[in-house]
Amino acid sequence: MEIGIDKLGFYTPHLYVDMNDLAEERGIDPGKFTVGLGQEEMAVPPITQDPVSLASNAAEQILDEDDKDAIDLVLFGTESGVDHSKSAAVYVHQLLGLNPKARSVELKQACYGATAGIQMAKGHIALHPDKKVLILASDIARYGLNTPGESTQGAGAVAILVSASPRLLALESTSTYYTADIMDFWRPVYSSTAFVDGKYSNEQYIAFFHKVWEDYQEQTGRSLTDFAAIAFHLPYTKMGWKALRTVIEDVPEEAQERLKNNYQISTKYNRQVGNIYTGSLYLSLLSLLENQDELKEADIIGLYSYGSGAVGEFLSGKLQPGFKEHLQTAVHQTMFENRERISVATYEDVFEQTLPTDGSEKQLQTSEDPAKICLAGVNDHMRSYVVK
Ligand code: HMG
Repeated sequence: MEIGIDKLGFYTPHLYVDMNDLAEERGIDPGKFTVGLGQEEMAVPPITQDPVSLASNAAEQILDEDDKDAIDLVLFGTESGVDHSKSAAVYVHQLLGLNPKARSVELKQACYGATAGIQMAKGHIALHPDKKVLILASDIARYGLNTPGESTQGAGAVAILVSASPRLLALESTSTYYTADIMDFWRPVYSSTAFVDGKYSNEQYIAFFHKVWEDYQEQTGRSLTDFAAIAFHLPYTKMGWKALRTVIEDVPEEAQERLKNNYQISTKYNRQVGNIYTGSLYLSLLSLLENQDELKEADIIGLYSYGSGAVGEFLSGKLQPGFKEHLQTAVHQTMFENRERISVATYEDVFEQTLPTDGSEKQLQTSEDPAKICLAGVNDHMRSYVVK
C-alpha cells in the first residue's frame, strides 16, 4: 500500500517587506540579502494572524467534506505555539469543523516538528488505511528589529493531508534521522524572539545533512543521480544550496545541472516569504511541484528536514501519476499577486503590535485582514477566532 502526501495547502499573510527596502533602511548592501541570503521579500504577519489562524487558512484551502470526515488525527508542528497546555491542533480542529472522533496534538522540535508528524501519520495510515491525517506546519519567525536574524524572518503555514493512495507524493520506506543536543538556535519560554548562534547553526545544518545523507546512501544504495530533485529546509534560500554544493561535485554533469536547476525552482516561494520554520521544507516542495513542469510520474524527490537543537532527517518520495492536477497552483499565485508591499516603517509598527502579556483583554479589528480566518482577540485569557 502506498502512503503519502495527498494534498498540500499554503497560506502566508497579505503583507510583505521588500528586502531591498529593508537593506536600505538598515544601511546594508541589498546584495547581502538578495544574493548572500537569497531572499527577495519577507512576509509580515498582522496581529490578526497567529500560528492557529495561519494553519487554518492553509488547511481550509484543501479540505472537502469527505476529507473532514476521514481525518481522525490532527498533528500540529510549530515552535511558535500559543499556549503551553492546549494544543494549537484543537483550535484548528474546531475552526475547520473536523470530525470530533479525532486525536489532536501539537508537536515540537524546532523546524523539524512537521516531519515527525508525517512519519507518525505514515504509521497511523498503515494501521487505518481508510483514515486521513492532517499535518499543520505553521510558524511566525521572529528574531527582532535590527538583529542579524531579522532578514531571515517570515510567516506562513503549510497544510499536508496524508492518506493511502496519495495523489501527490508516495513516501518511501527508508528515511534516516539523527539527534544531538546542541545550542545553535533556541527560544526560552520567557522570550518572544529566538536566540541564535548564526554561523554555528549554518555549520550544524550542513553537518546534520551529511550524517543523514550518508546514512541514506548506505541503507538504500542510491546516489544523487537517482533523484529528480532535493528539497531542503530553507531558513533562507542560500542555505540549502550551501549543503547541496558540498555533495554535488562528483555527480555526472547532466544530473548536476538537473539538481541545481530544480533546487532554484524549489526556492521560488521561500524567496518571497522568508523562514516559516516547520513549514519551510514543505513550502519548498510545493514551490518545486507547482513551478517545475518537467517533473513526471515516478520521479524521486529527496527531502532534507532540519530542526535546530537539533534533529535532522532525510526522506524521499515518488511522484504520483497526474499529480499536477491536484495542486492549488492558481490559488497560490493569486495569493502572492494580492499581497501588499509595506514600508519598513509600517513593518516596524506591525512588528511592535503584540497581544498583552499581562492577561488584560484585547479586541482586534479583523476587517483589514483579507484572510478567511483571523484572530479576533483575547478575553478572559481565552483566544477567540473569527471565520468570515
Ligand atoms: P550575517 O552575519 O548577518 O551574514 O548572518 P553574513 O555576514 O554571514 O553574510 C551572509 C552571506 O551574505 C555571506 O555569504 C556573505 O558573503 C554574503 P556566505 O559566506 O554565507 O556564502 N554577502 C553578500 N553577498 C552579495 N553581496 C553583498 C554581500 N554582503 C554579504 N553585498 C545569518 C547571516 C544567516 C547567520 C543570520 O541571518 C542568522 O543568524 N539567521 C538565523 C539563523 C539561521 O537562519 N540559521 C540557518 C541554519 S539553522 C536552521 O535552519 C534552523 C532554523 O530554521 C530554526 C529552527 O530549526 O527552528 C533557523
